Amino acid sequence: MKVLIIGSGGREHAIAMSVAKSDRVDQIYCAPGNAGIGQIAECVPIGAMEFDKIRDFAQEKAIDLVIVGMDDPLVGGLVDVLEEAGIRTFGPRKNAAIIEGSKAFSKELMKKYQIPTAAYETFDEAEDALEYLHTKAKFPIVLKADGLALGKGVLICNTLQEAEDGVCAIMTERKFGSAGNRLVIEEFLTGREVSVLSFVDGKTIKIMSSAQDHKRAQDGDKGPNTGGMGNFSPSPFYTKEVDEFCQKHIYQATVDALAEEGRPFCGVIFFGLMLTADGPKVLEYNARFGDPEAQVVLCRMKNDIIDVCEACIDGTLSDLDLMFEDNAAVCVVLASEGYPVKYEKGLPVSGLENFEGKDGYYCFHAGTKLAEDGNTILTNGGRVFGVTAKGATLQEARANAYAATEWVDFANKYMRHDIGKAIDEA
Ligand code: AMP
Ligand code: GLY
Repeated sequence: MKVLIIGSGGREHAIAMSVAKSDRVDQIYCAPGNAGIGQIAECVPIGAMEFDKIRDFAQEKAIDLVIVGMDDPLVGGLVDVLEEAGIRTFGPRKNAAIIEGSKAFSKELMKKYQIPTAAYETFDEAEDALEYLHTKAKFPIVLKADGLALGKGVLICNTLQEAEDGVCAIMTERKFGSAGNRLVIEEFLTGREVSVLSFVDGKTIKIMSSAQDHKRAQDGDKGPNTGGMGNFSPSPFYTKEVDEFCQKHIYQATVDALAEEGRPFCGVIFFGLMLTADGPKVLEYNARFGDPEAQVVLCRMKNDIIDVCEACIDGTLSDLDLMFEDNAAVCVVLASEGYPVKYEKGLPVSGLENFEGKDGYYCFHAGTKLAEDGNTILTNGGRVFGVTAKGATLQEARANAYAATEWVDFANKYMRHDIGKAIDEA
């Protein structure tokens, strides 16, 4: 088979690594890819939003399966374009990817089908949102820009003043562009967060091993929100009781709700859950693998990823036994000092060869590129690598991952030192 992967981050590197393990695959392409993906796939210089070029390339190379990793092309309808051209594609169509593309949509869906989530109101006008804040709001309160905002469109406001400034930033100044056309104002929930990824074939849902992300830039969950500074899988807080509750009230209910609305979902649903004192509640849906959740989950999946993707497309997921290794993985992100605010790019990297031949250790590239000499690897983003290691236990995986962070080097290398600290509290 020939497989084309769409995206350029650590998640797509983890997907490519899984695809490369399949005996069924002869050739992997990635658009646009990065320097690490380039070692196992042929990177093609086509952007993830260049739908016509992706379709033409897939037809020209007779691609057997396209796997879309990123949110923007899914929400924008890449899967619809490829399907119309008869190209087999793994990922939700535009009308189902809306569960990530519009927070107002996903909140309405959850309300209509009684899926547990935070109480909320939706606003189209800044004045109405401000009126609500003045008369009805309890603080802290959460403001969410409706659309995609690179994970930055969520503001937790402790005071009325902060919330007023937030409404102004999102709806008046349009700090997140058209994502701020609508606003969701939501009840603030407390508890532990868990990420649960799942495969869905339109009717059946099978969940993967759970994970926990670390979104803040600095140790002790301080500093600004980032795309994720590291994570671990499984989460010891995702207990059997939590799983039973979610199976009963959240997972299948979401899949059935989408089917009922005429928006059958095929692909990966990512459930961002908050384990509150009143039980698990959905914080958000994503229509794709998480980044870096894919890095700690896919390396532990026993199935051939191509079999799983095809079962989702063909509607035969109920026949498939989804299996994970009975171990753990930890991913520590190596970033450029200053991320996510201001940082340098183009710094040469050394030490990557230390990962060669080391079973259970992975250096997933998040933001790298090949220098013009065709040899040197340069940093090309705020998050540069997701150093990932497996272990028999979470503690062992964490020790292995931190040891491996020493193997690779570049100027201004920065990481959190407390990824997985919560494991000790479990
Ligand atoms: P989201 O993109 O909706 O997952 O929000 C990003 C982050 O904001 C989440 O991972 C949570 O840490 C936080 N968050 C979102 N919604 C809430 C809420 N209702 N209560 C508390 N924290 C929230
Ligand atoms: N790690 C969070 C996300 O992928 O959205």
